[in-house]
Amino acid sequence: MTGGDVALGWRLDDFDPGRPSPARVYDYWLGGKHNFAVDRKLATDAVAFWPELPQVMRVNRAFLQRAVRFLVSAGIRQFLDLGSGIPTRGNVHEVAQEADPEARVVYVDLDPVAVTHSRALLAGNESAIVVQADLRDPGSLLDSSMLHSVLDLNEPVAVVMMALLHFVPDSEDPAKIVAGYRDALAPGSYLALSHGCSEGCEELAGKLEELYHRAGTPFTLRSRAAVAEFFDGFELVEPGLAPPPVWRPDGGEGFDERKPFPGIGGVGRLLGS
Ligand SMILES: C[S@@+](CC[C@H](N)C(=O)[O-])C[C@H]1O[C@@H](n2cnc3c(N)ncnc32)[C@H](O)[C@@H]1O
Repeated sequence: MTGGDVALGWRLDDFDPGRPSPARVYDYWLGGKHNFAVDRKLATDAVAFWPELPQVMRVNRAFLQRAVRFLVSAGIRQFLDLGSGIPTRGNVHEVAQEADPEARVVYVDLDPVAVTHSRALLAGNESAIVVQADLRDPGSLLDSSMLHSVLDLNEPVAVVMMALLHFVPDSEDPAKIVAGYRDALAPGSYLALSHGCSEGCEELAGKLEELYHRAGTPFTLRSRAAVAEFFDGFELVEPGLAPPPVWRPDGGEGFDERKPFPGIGGVGRLLGS
């Protein structure tokens, strides 16, 4: 750790330097600088057998941004971005506040590097904060005074879970975790989600899962049907669950559509609202 890192507020016991972190591996694939040798090793080992991975991550970011633009156009002004990651270009508050400077955002991540850099980026922004918390405990997060200082849960909120739930194993019941957030939402709220999906690329997906597991990081790619279950209680907006490059595309992705995309995503509106 360098002196600069200390100034940003990291604590040495906040992270295990011998274990790759999903936030930092993703940062490396996106061309960021907030990663360590152990993260770069996993990221480059994966790219060695799956060269498209950095582009897959950029496509996921573009999907996040299109989803937020859609949500703003649907009237949403409050966002709860779970597993928000290390900030890069086009973060949720930037996209939402470009459309409406009054839009409010709570970012949540477990990773101290992600939280520290988010905090630095958000300094001076009164409508967006970051909370260091574990999304697997919806009750504590939804009760936190920090969250309530920015979001009014009596009004519609978009819960954003991009490239996140594949880090939650089946043994921790991710569908129940999503339901914990859903049940706290006001009518008119939304869920926007993307998830790693192995359909069509099982062999490469298996290798990636194995790489994460060997590094001690839980990683579970799921079928389309399993991801659809996370939208229980929501009505998917058009085009439903789709690979992110083809979800309301705006022409900017450039992903070769002949190749299977190892992910799926969608946006759903709370049913009955
Ligand atoms: C691949 S990144 C995705 C970042 C961002 N959502 C995006 O799509 O650009 C996954 C993020 O989820 C975070 N994460 C994983 N498990 C988490 C948990 N249990 N609670 C909070 N954050 C978590 C990681 O730290 C990481 O920053």
